Amino acid sequence: MNFELDSNQKLIQEMVREFAVKELEPTAVEIDQSREFPWKNIRKMAELGLMGMIVPDEYGGGGMDFLSLAIAVEEISHGCASTGVIVAVNQTLTAYPIMQFGTDSQKKKYLPVLAGAQKIGAFALTEGSAGSDPAGMETTAKLDGDHYILNGSKRFITNGEEAGIFIVFAVTDREKAHKGISAFIVEKEFPGFAVGQHEDLMGLRATGNCELMFDDCRVPKENLLGEEGQGFKIAMNTIDTSRIDIGAQAVGIAQAALDAAVKYSKERKTFGKPICEYQMIQDKLAEMACRIDAARLLVYRAAAVKDAGVSRYTKEAAMAKYMASEACMYAVREAVQVYGGYGYTKDYPVERFFRDSKVMEIYEGTSEIQKIVIARSLL
Ligand code: CAA
Repeated sequence: MNFELDSNQKLIQEMVREFAVKELEPTAVEIDQSREFPWKNIRKMAELGLMGMIVPDEYGGGGMDFLSLAIAVEEISHGCASTGVIVAVNQTLTAYPIMQFGTDSQKKKYLPVLAGAQKIGAFALTEGSAGSDPAGMETTAKLDGDHYILNGSKRFITNGEEAGIFIVFAVTDREKAHKGISAFIVEKEFPGFAVGQHEDLMGLRATGNCELMFDDCRVPKENLLGEEGQGFKIAMNTIDTSRIDIGAQAVGIAQAALDAAVKYSKERKTFGKPICEYQMIQDKLAEMACRIDAARLLVYRAAAVKDAGVSRYTKEAAMAKYMASEACMYAVREAVQVYGGYGYTKDYPVERFFRDSKVMEIYEGTSEIQKIVIARSLL
């Protein structure tokens, strides 16, 4: 077993780390407060090839492996967690299902646009009353001549306000339960599509998270993704892939919290000496470091399994996502504790890390859902 990244992966890690420190960290506070979608940084990342890393080069992407993407998402999230999920959603939740299930013409039309971030992507599965149980969705799609007519709404859609290309799931045959769900590629300009209310989130505030509305939205028949009735499997397969990057995002935030806590513990003095000299502080730092490293190894393993071409990596992805989000929440809580009263103010970044982290245990499947998935693989 080789625990070393290869030379390309190391280069990506170094390059993205440097970019995150120079470009993302300095704007992270501002966009958290203003909720401004970070288009300027997205353009810069597109120039560096970071918006379409896994997209094959024939479609304008980098043709890279999923481990490289996970490494990049980790480093981006270390600098700015909002930007981390924007990058992940564009690739694993939007470009990836098109790569995997799209027709040649869908790939030609949409992948270069996503890889170059001329338009950004979003994934519309969740509804107001269908989050953990997406098979219970209410949005419908009915074939009418050359178009499907979509009606319904979606909630909590990352990138939703700014995206131009959406992977949307809708019921085409209610009788067939999850086998009656289909997936569509929807463009923002399609008639009947509208962006609804902004979701005023606790963290990840610059992600353009919103509601989407479909009011007799006309989607050309050729924008059906995969086959009619294949939507649930497309969603599950896509989420398996994407959970690896949410794990990577969680590791990135957790590492940022640990780095901040280490630095602060050397500067802050109590009772005449730096607090890092107290064993209770050292205990926190050591525990954080162990949990983060363990999570990172699970994330890298899930990505490596995916890269090895194994067809189902559901369990590995769920374990990575679960352990990384728990490690992240632990690390940010302890980092705030190391900072004491200052950690509870907006003067230091750990307060933002704390808010950004909670959703790791919720989106892309709650921790409870990950445990169900893991347990099912055992039983
Ligand atoms: N890959 C391929 N197929 C899969 C699969 C997978 N990972 N998981 C299930 N399936 C298949 C099953 O084999 C089964 O197929 P058959 O009918 O042919 O037998 C079918 O799908 C139904 O499977 P289940 O009976 O297991 O389905 P379920 O309704 O019990 O749900 C679940 C399973 C794991 C709970 C699933 O609903 C789930 O993961 N829920 C969480 C949803 C989620 O993660 N949402 C995230 C939204 S996106 C997001 O959050 C993005 C963001 O903001 C950034």
